[in-house]
Amino acid sequence: MKKILVIGACGQLGTELTLKLRDLFGVENVIASDLREAVDLIKDGPYEQLDVMDKSRLDEVISTHNIDQIYHLAAILSARGEQNPMLAWDLNMTSLLNVLETGRDRISKIYWPSSIAVFGPDTPMVQTPQTTVMNPNTVYGISKLAGERWCEYYFQKYKVDVRSMRYPGLIGYKAKPGGGTTDYAVDIFWKAILDNSYECFLKPDTLLPMMYMDDAVKATIDLMQADPTALKVRSSYNISAMSFSPDMIYREICKRYPDFQIEYNPDFRQQIADSWPDSIADDQAREDWNWSPSFDLAKMTETMLDNLEVQLVSTK
Ligand code: NAD
Ligand code: SER
Repeated sequence: MKKILVIGACGQLGTELTLKLRDLFGVENVIASDLREAVDLIKDGPYEQLDVMDKSRLDEVISTHNIDQIYHLAAILSARGEQNPMLAWDLNMTSLLNVLETGRDRISKIYWPSSIAVFGPDTPMVQTPQTTVMNPNTVYGISKLAGERWCEYYFQKYKVDVRSMRYPGLIGYKAKPGGGTTDYAVDIFWKAILDNSYECFLKPDTLLPMMYMDDAVKATIDLMQADPTALKVRSSYNISAMSFSPDMIYREICKRYPDFQIEYNPDFRQQIADSWPDSIADDQAREDWNWSPSFDLAKMTETMLDNLEVQLVSTK
């Protein structure tokens, strides 16, 4: 049996994607890997401590486990990227090129996520189209746009079956986010339950595209299972689920926690958020591989609170 390798499996997305892939394809067929030691949720299955920057070690893991598909998720996200631009560029680019080069002859399918961060201040902000002006102005966005160009290049030049989508901000309760601008939309739930108050680093009216984790995981697996001939986009697909601002999510949480307080103290992340779209047009993904989300703001908020209340009850 050929196997799947998840790189960056201990992160916010990797944890949940690994769990779902193991559900679908069998625990023993999904090898989780990350720079750090395995987190509890994915500890029970096969695990390799792997620095994806070390290409010979990557080759070794692929050979040892007879890897056939790779989900490459390791990256430095937008906010952390601005704090160390050279490190972000190096990790985000070198790791992708290592995976693409390694994958040329031996891997049947590669997944690599891009982001709404590929767009910038010159991009049309409302219902941003699949193909438009981009001009990102964060190191993270620049690295994701360059990554998209590399993915398309490897597909056209070497027939590497690499697939990608531009996630909006991802929201889930199983793993905490790792240094993005949209992290507030996860933190706010923890603080609502634990402290009944939250200090937000974005302004109240900052509208951003967002997605609940179950939708993101489903989209990822659906794209990887889609008929390759149906996929017209080999850079990265726009996908969309909902858009909201800090004030909108605050009001939604107040429906269950009426005394919840919020204070706004915008920092350097405001400028990053202001450069990104308000909403995304995802008609191409809907047409090519039947993408459609299941969670809106109300359903996502309810699901996050239901699950986090159970999870956090012992720590309160
Ligand atoms: P994360 O920061 O939570 O996780 C990244 C993981 O990569 C971490 O566990 C980290 O230890 C690991 N890692 C870092 N350097 C590594 C290395 N050299 N070798 C191996 N592993 C290494 O990130 P995430 O939120 O899970 O994002 C996963 C992917 O999805 C990234 O490519 C990110 O750009 C993309 N994405 C995420 C979001 C989001 O909102 N979370 C939105 C758009 C795109
Ligand atoms: N959620 C990500 C970030 O804020 C977007 O790619 O960096």
